[in-house]
Amino acid sequence: GLPRRVSIYEVGPRDGLQNEKAVVPVDVKSEFVTRLAAAGLRTIETTSFVHPKWVPQLADAEDLLNVLPRSPDLRYPVLVPNEKGLQRALSNGVTEIAIFGSATESFARRNLNRTVDESIDMFAPVVERAHSEGLWVRAYISMVCGDPWEGDVPIEQVVSVASRLMELGCSQLSLGDTIGVGTPGHVTALIEALGAAGIGTERLAVHFHDTYGQALANTLAALRAGVTCVDSSAGGLGGCPYAESATGNLPTEDLVWMLHGLGIDTGVDLGRLVETSHWMARHLGRPSPSRVVQALSPK
Ligand code: HMG
Ligand code: MG
Repeated sequence: GLPRRVSIYEVGPRDGLQNEKAVVPVDVKSEFVTRLAAAGLRTIETTSFVHPKWVPQLADAEDLLNVLPRSPDLRYPVLVPNEKGLQRALSNGVTEIAIFGSATESFARRNLNRTVDESIDMFAPVVERAHSEGLWVRAYISMVCGDPWEGDVPIEQVVSVASRLMELGCSQLSLGDTIGVGTPGHVTALIEALGAAGIGTERLAVHFHDTYGQALANTLAALRAGVTCVDSSAGGLGGCPYAESATGNLPTEDLVWMLHGLGIDTGVDLGRLVETSHWMARHLGRPSPSRVVQALSPK
């Protein structure tokens, strides 16, 4: 069966923009988030409190959060790797954070300058303090299907790191196919293995990059396995600066088209969303890779 309603966790302003070479002005980012909210997206990952040298595009995290319109029905989670990042987030009124671990040593080293063990030691006090401050905490786990340096990543290895991240007390685990190599059978097997290890689908989200054109098929496999939270990026923007061969996320428009076609409610106004991605594509100076944006954009 399929769920009747799916929550879309929009990552365009964070995952979508983090890899853009030219810095997007704060007022454009703010308009982007505001337009996404007006299109009906309720959870929008807006930025990261990481080291500004590591991700220069998001060095304006404070400025952006200062100008974003707040509303009780809008959630703006942000990425936080360490205590310094958490302090910055708390000083800016953040109420939802995401830590981000890696299933592989190669990516932990490149993305966090840590081994997998060291990165979990780095996250532990972050999650503890976040909870004492009443924050909601998501954990990402990257490279869940394959890794550019290590190749295939065994399911047991993903389950092992995922369990350690969830034991910190995180509320949700987002499965990141960072380089988009996964295929639906593997996704199903991974979700089943996580379930057998006690991490049920009610606590899972899926985060597919579309490098190999598998993101939508993988999403459908995850929905059939019981997942009801899906990450996507408006217009298919994106890529990870520390993972070669990572391209954009599953485009939110492609996801919405499929879900509405399946009779699954999302609360998203597809026309307004397409307009937003078309506007952003004009700003970035290149067309959106989303098939649905291309099909529905003014010619
Ligand atoms: P490090 O160099 O090991 O940091 O980087 P450190 O702890 O040794 O500190 C060094 C200096 O950085 C210190 O300053 C700290 O204060 C400062 P100094 O004393 O030398 O003047 N510092 C900070 N400044 C501002 N904000 C901070 C912060 N932390 C330390 N938060 C670190 C370690 C984790 C900071 C670094 O590796 C980093 O920032 N990494 C982030 C990389 C990143 O954002 N990658 C993209 C997101 S992950 C992703 O895209 C995947 C995902 O989409 C899922 C998927 O697709 O799979 C989520
Ligand atoms: Mg990602």
